[in-house]
Amino acid sequence: MHAPPLPAPPSAAPARPADWLPSDWRLRAAAQQPEWPDAALLRRVRARLAGTAPLVSPAEVQELRQALARAAHAEAFVVQLGDCAETFETPEFAGTAARVDLLHATARTIGAALHRPVLPIGRIAGQYAKPRSSPTERVGDLLLPSFRGHLVNDPAPDPAARVPDAMRLLRGHAHAREVLALLRELADSGMAMRDAPAGAPAVWTSHEALLLDYEEPLVRRDPLTGSWYLTSTHLPWIGARTCEPDGAHVRFLAGVANPVGVKVGPDTGPEHLAELCARLDPDHQPGRLVLISRMGAAKVRELLPPLVEKVAALGHPVVWVCDPVHGNTYTSGTGHKTRHVDVLGEELTGFFAAVRAARGWPGGIHLEATAADVTECVGGSPEVREGDLPLRYETACDPRLNGAQTAQLAELVARLCAAQ
Ligand code: PEP
Ligand code: CO
Repeated sequence: MHAPPLPAPPSAAPARPADWLPSDWRLRAAAQQPEWPDAALLRRVRARLAGTAPLVSPAEVQELRQALARAAHAEAFVVQLGDCAETFETPEFAGTAARVDLLHATARTIGAALHRPVLPIGRIAGQYAKPRSSPTERVGDLLLPSFRGHLVNDPAPDPAARVPDAMRLLRGHAHAREVLALLRELADSGMAMRDAPAGAPAVWTSHEALLLDYEEPLVRRDPLTGSWYLTSTHLPWIGARTCEPDGAHVRFLAGVANPVGVKVGPDTGPEHLAELCARLDPDHQPGRLVLISRMGAAKVRELLPPLVEKVAALGHPVVWVCDPVHGNTYTSGTGHKTRHVDVLGEELTGFFAAVRAARGWPGGIHLEATAADVTECVGGSPEVREGDLPLRYETACDPRLNGAQTAQLAELVARLCAAQ
């Protein structure tokens, strides 16, 4: 199946490098930003971040854009996965290798069925900030400010630990740099998926670009081209809670030359999506936009086709990716946030059907998954039952698929890819 030929109508969108600055977002409403208690400390931290070396280079970012352009043209497939939230635990070579291995194994399973290149993209080396539905959460008898990821506060059940601390922005940056160094060493030791130039990482990196006080100082201008690059990650994405077309996050990512992901949920109608595409992809460039559908298994077949058709009709050559996890989370009888593997499989199956019904290319998957033998999602084989959830429920935020459950869904996706 091939994407229909895409016209390139004249641009309607405002943001261009010429009239965009990394600080523009400050004039817009920014959802999900912590209230940093010490403004002077935040200013010093931002200045320190602005003085750091880029974590990823413009050349790498451009290479990923070109690879994503192939996915937009039905010539490649994206596998994006990793932890819901990374922690500040000291990065270890073995643990990072296991994350890379899981990505590569998933990519190989799908690639063998698809006979096209598969791009491995980790939720890695920067996935430390979490949007929350509520500013407070109950832990036992305590009502606490919500944990917002290690980039903001500490998960310990103590009000003092939950106060946002801007020093964490520096710790997060240092942690990301260490993980990236390991990813580059892994590639040098033979764990690369592609003919990567020396020094390239074993996988591409991605995270939700949520905390704009962290991301803004990491934007740099490429002296060769004059383009702005976000140097904290190869592929930043905009989450479902921060995708207001006139909001700060969209304005911020509109001006950088990176590929940009956007979560597309059940509340994102065709007009909303058209506005997002106009602002984020005014030049109709393949490889610029990755639309990550997270509708829920019950809704994807109905809600997705009109969106795929709308975007194609407007001439945005996007990559459509399925996140089957965030629309299918529920609380178990044991009180754990969880997801059922079979329901995730239903959303994946529905996604392939929906995109194909709209004459599009199902271009990738996005999972929260770990190679470890955790008990956070139910189902799979060996089966995890709700009663097993307390055994090894280790996630820092949302429930992850374990290695066996991930492999099972990879096999399903391979079958879906082969059945085109
Ligand atoms: C996430 O990817 O961790 C996330 C919070 O997703 P969403 O914005 O789609 O809810
Ligand atoms: Co999550």
